[in-house]
Amino acid sequence: MTTAELTDQYLLGNYGRFPVTISRGEGGYVFDEDGKRYLDFATGIAVCSLGHCPEVMSKALSEQGRKLVHCSNLYRIREQAELARFVVEKMMERAGKVFFCNSGAEANDGLIKLARKHSYDRHGKEAEKNVIITCKQSFHGRTLGGIAATAQEKVKIGFDPLLPGFLHVPFNDVETLREAVTEKTAGILFEPLQGEGGINPATPEFMAAAAELRDEHDFLLMFDEVQVGSGRSGDWCGWRTILKDSGVEVEPDAVSWAKGFGGGFPIGAIWADDSCAPALGPGTHGSTFGGTPLASAVALAVLEEIEQSGVLENVKRQEKTIRDAVAGWSNPLVKSLRGVGLMLGFVICEEAMSSVEGFTESGNTPALFLVNKLMDAGMLTVPAGANVVRWLPRLNVTEEEVSEALAIFTRTLDELS
Ligand SMILES: Cc1ncc(COP(=O)(O)O)c(C=O)c1O
Repeated sequence: MTTAELTDQYLLGNYGRFPVTISRGEGGYVFDEDGKRYLDFATGIAVCSLGHCPEVMSKALSEQGRKLVHCSNLYRIREQAELARFVVEKMMERAGKVFFCNSGAEANDGLIKLARKHSYDRHGKEAEKNVIITCKQSFHGRTLGGIAATAQEKVKIGFDPLLPGFLHVPFNDVETLREAVTEKTAGILFEPLQGEGGINPATPEFMAAAAELRDEHDFLLMFDEVQVGSGRSGDWCGWRTILKDSGVEVEPDAVSWAKGFGGGFPIGAIWADDSCAPALGPGTHGSTFGGTPLASAVALAVLEEIEQSGVLENVKRQEKTIRDAVAGWSNPLVKSLRGVGLMLGFVICEEAMSSVEGFTESGNTPALFLVNKLMDAGMLTVPAGANVVRWLPRLNVTEEEVSEALAIFTRTLDELS
């Protein structure tokens, strides 16, 4: 049977997949079953931070794989504790405690539980201080907690009754945020740079207002860094990149990570400030596979490589190269470029796209139409919402790969317009 036949016969049809089977990866490239090579500017949706099969990962996988793969959180795990130290000392540079899980949605579920339990411990059951405020166009994952938190109708339809206690406000709308906060608020959770919603950065004013409200009303300010975190912004923490030069300083009480955190190995994490971390005491939370020796050793190897090999500097350098090149473009299909570091979104002009041959008949959104064309041309990218095409290259992307991406992208746009 072909892979397409196997997929159709045996796999749940929950993903809208491209008609391509990726069978091998090497550095910044992947290859399909027919041997066609693609420049990978999707990286498994911001996951393969060091590209495909980097030596550090293969080494950590095989060495730890021969030493100890799993033993349960019933016992202390050296690799997990070392990884937690890296998060606290290198990534956060702030005291706090870390919990490991397996995905972004699970990490956000952890944040939701942390905020509620923290309020419960401080104010008691009767206070019912359990409401989490999130933002429109957000994406926080596909668990029941994740879809309740995600302020996009399409992820919720058909799954009632949803987890109660969530309130959605327009992103970056300070006034509505102020009105939404009450004595019932247990937390505000948002992505400092929205990914799935269309590469929308939080404004410094919005972040400052959220922090101010947190201080006034005693709840947790939580950042979902699942996509923008782990170095993709050019710093360990996406919100610090966004706030740089703004004159605003905001620090959250808790943060979630996944995706690039393990470079492709499934692992998620949350960090909680020492003031709220005790809320998740013995017996309150857990995960069989959270922070196994293997997952922890691989993630630590990936993060240490990012730290020690100048990868964060590379992110900033390549971002600048891309921005400088794009500043000289005049193709009517591209309206603007937004994002930070190597989480960049090209905003596609719907009107210009509507006159492109084949677009209307395709039934696709402008972003999906262009992503398909780029794939035909040998480059993988990802749509973000209807009108944004995301570039999410590996963080150690080379100058040659960036030049190739710019060439494929401009050539494809020119051919379309
Ligand atoms: C910001 C954000 N949070 C959470 C998630 C969910 O992560 P996962 O798919 O690992 O559950 C995603 C996935 O796209 C995300 O972008």
